[in-house]
Amino acid sequence: MSVPASSTAWPALAAHRDQLAQTRIDSLFDADPDRGAALTHPFAGLVVDFSKQRVTARTMALLVALAEERGVMAAVERLFAGAPVNPTEGRPALHTAVRGDEHVWVDGVDILPEVQRGRERMRVFASAVREGRWKGATGLPIRSVLALGIGGSSLGPRLVLQALAGIADGPEVRFAENLDPVGLDTALAGLDPATTLVVIASKTFTTQETMTNAAAARRWLEAALGEGALARHVVAATARTDEAMRFGLPESNVFPFGEWIGGRYSLWSSVGLPVAIAIGMPAFEHLLAGAHAADLEFRSAPPERNVPLLAALVGLWNRNFLGMGVLAVLPYADRLASLPAYLQQLEMESNGKSVRIDGTPVDMPTCPAIFGQPGTPGQHAFHQWLHQGTDPAACDFIVVATPMGTRRDAHEALLAHALAQSEALMAGRRTGDAHRDCPGDRPSTTIVLPRLEPASMGALLALYEHKTYAQAVLWGINPFDQFGVELGKSIAGRILPAVRGQHDGGLHPATRHLVNVLHKLSRGD
Ligand code: F6P
Repeated sequence: MSVPASSTAWPALAAHRDQLAQTRIDSLFDADPDRGAALTHPFAGLVVDFSKQRVTARTMALLVALAEERGVMAAVERLFAGAPVNPTEGRPALHTAVRGDEHVWVDGVDILPEVQRGRERMRVFASAVREGRWKGATGLPIRSVLALGIGGSSLGPRLVLQALAGIADGPEVRFAENLDPVGLDTALAGLDPATTLVVIASKTFTTQETMTNAAAARRWLEAALGEGALARHVVAATARTDEAMRFGLPESNVFPFGEWIGGRYSLWSSVGLPVAIAIGMPAFEHLLAGAHAADLEFRSAPPERNVPLLAALVGLWNRNFLGMGVLAVLPYADRLASLPAYLQQLEMESNGKSVRIDGTPVDMPTCPAIFGQPGTPGQHAFHQWLHQGTDPAACDFIVVATPMGTRRDAHEALLAHALAQSEALMAGRRTGDAHRDCPGDRPSTTIVLPRLEPASMGALLALYEHKTYAQAVLWGINPFDQFGVELGKSIAGRILPAVRGQHDGGLHPATRHLVNVLHKLSRGD
């Protein structure tokens, strides 16, 4: 790991890390049994406990000094103010604007009226669908929503609907993301075209997966209801109204959002329409309000109590000073099962970068690999690796204080396991038998939600969004582009004719070999 030129905070942190080298996390509790309270912070209705991280008050002070040296809070202000924080694509990133009510100017135009209009259109449409006033082509009300989209155009709505399933009293929502035809086949199974609304969410409206599924869904609708049915059965959430209209939708069926909303930050825009239809616009607005409360705190809290910033700094400490290349996301809630996948896109697509904003190489590791699944099932899968594997990982535990189902006793047992895991990972175990010993000293953060409800979900997701942005600033990278995903897409375009058996001119020999294997096996040779 090299030291960024002209940094004083970085060498101070490196020296501090060396001083702490022989100090175990649990011994920090011996020295200060109250460190739990000292390192726990309220945040927009959540509680975030950093006390099982390998940090002291001095570590936190040095990390805050690094944030100050890197100008993080000034960069936060630039984010909220609509500055072009996405310089490679020349635009701002204003996901915060669509969940608030503040004036923000983009290219000299106040976008608040546009934001409010968009929200109002969502409210009117979602309630018309929920109340059966929006009729399908045969005059029947909508009973099911088929949500098409991928990546940021799907992961957020899917996670939030899973989390809030307990209050979803509108039409059932099904998702199809993948090109694998089984995904759409499964989603369509048992649906009646006459009572189905298709929501196509795609910022660009050109994404192959989504457009392939959209075309298939259109054929499915038109085969049953005729060509004129589209206007009653398909709507779009997109930044490209022109492309949605080219697809065949009337402009009134398009719910636009600005180019200044990044795909993986788009849940809060019209991409959230399936959520608003399922739980109602008032509940969707509570989700926005929870995120907005998080925004206000991120923007105004002093660095030493700024929870997203502290989460970013602790993550950087683990990554760049303690050498941890993996972050395990461990929600102790079945309804948060999609959180690891959501965070994989949010953090890894945002900060999986090797060059700085100015194009020079980043000379230190950036985003760790993220994986996870809910506890306790994960305990019976990969926690062995967390406890005794050779590669120490940092963990985020997400727990919900109030029971999510009907049985308090089971919930209490679930909580006991969550707390046991973070304690075991920190404290370890010495038995005298090397096979049974657990080294411990694995750091973790615990995030507590009072209840699984719209506002706490909004705050939780905004916490991770802001952590991601703050880390990007600390590493000097642009979290809002994703050029890396384009290479594979363009190669797939070249390979498709060969897979279809049309021609294989110009294929890489490694690919030609596998195309031949696939052809042989699919013929049963
Ligand atoms: O994975 C690349 C990506 O561009 C994501 O950033 C985005 O969320 C996803 O594809 C879908 O893109 P779109 O909303 O344009 O269909």
